[in-house]
Amino acid sequence: MTAEEPAIATQALTKRYRGGRLAVDRLDLLVPRGSVFGFLGPNGSGKTTTIRMLMGLIEPTSGVARVLGEEMPRSGRRVLSRVGALIEGPAPYGFLSGRDNLARYDAADPTADPRTRAARVAAALDRVGLTAAAGKKARAYSLGMKQRLGLAAALLRPRELLVLDEPTNGLDPQGMREIRALVRDLAAGGTTVFLSSHLLDEIEQVCTHVAVMAQGRLLVQGTVTELASSVRARLGVTTPDTADAVRILKEHGVTDLAVRDDRVSGELPPAALVDPADLNAALVRAGVRVRAFGTERASLEDAFVALTGEGFDVAG
Ligand SMILES: Nc1ncnc2c1ncn2[C@@H]1O[C@H](COP(=O)(O)OP(=O)(O)O)[C@@H](O)[C@H]1O
Ligand SMILES: [Mg+2]
Repeated sequence: MTAEEPAIATQALTKRYRGGRLAVDRLDLLVPRGSVFGFLGPNGSGKTTTIRMLMGLIEPTSGVARVLGEEMPRSGRRVLSRVGALIEGPAPYGFLSGRDNLARYDAADPTADPRTRAARVAAALDRVGLTAAAGKKARAYSLGMKQRLGLAAALLRPRELLVLDEPTNGLDPQGMREIRALVRDLAAGGTTVFLSSHLLDEIEQVCTHVAVMAQGRLLVQGTVTELASSVRARLGVTTPDTADAVRILKEHGVTDLAVRDDRVSGELPPAALVDPADLNAALVRAGVRVRAFGTERASLEDAFVALTGEGFDVAG
């Protein structure tokens, strides 16, 4: 394995469940080392199924999955000690405290030195903000606390790659912020983080890269910036001279022009072709009295709508 190997790479990875349902359809995923990679898609789009294949928990129907350069599930034993994972529905023992649950996870790792176990467990609890609740029985934990405990288990050892399936599920906004801060912190320390979410906003806030799934298929992948800039920005001009403004803007490549009262809006040509400042100057030169001039950068959500023709908030 070389340092250039991506953290995760799949080729035509496919999973058809018994009963014929195609959950993941010829997925080609490329997760660069050092990225915070958002695996985005509505419920039922195949995220958990993909993650289960990546972690060697289920066999692909066909295709190849490589994690840290090793083929899964064949090399699972070798590679999984370098990967921390939090997969849907962490199920701690309810009759044990959070701390004792972690000690059990740690004991299940044959490479973990029992003499330093207590320190590792304490550090992991601290990292996810569970120190105060560490002595409580896990059955008294809220969903969010269980989620944190699962994360703590993934953080017991230093990892090259963290795979987190919907890590903020069940958390309140404050808990979500804490997880985002933790993810940024881990990434700054050099860990590659692959996290799934059905929340676009969350991906946009924390991720450098994103792959968008819908119905088992990959719609697009790339950096968050690339994806957002693939959608054209919109322009809005407030002026009493709307007819002239429309004419000038059209001459300069603005499309989808619309007038509403004293406001003209339209879609800007790609940023490489026109500078909004030049558009403004052209309007003024033509005698258009510009009261307000503004552009709106496209968000990841705009990109998603453009890709799928629908809003992202698709309930599953
Ligand atoms: N064990 C299973 N057996 C049969 N179908 C499944 C199983 N797990 C998931 N599915 C189906 O596969 C599709 C993808 O599910 P999943 O991977 O859980 O998506 P996501 O994590 O994006 O919500 C869904 O249609 C789901 O109903
Ligand atoms: Mg899922």
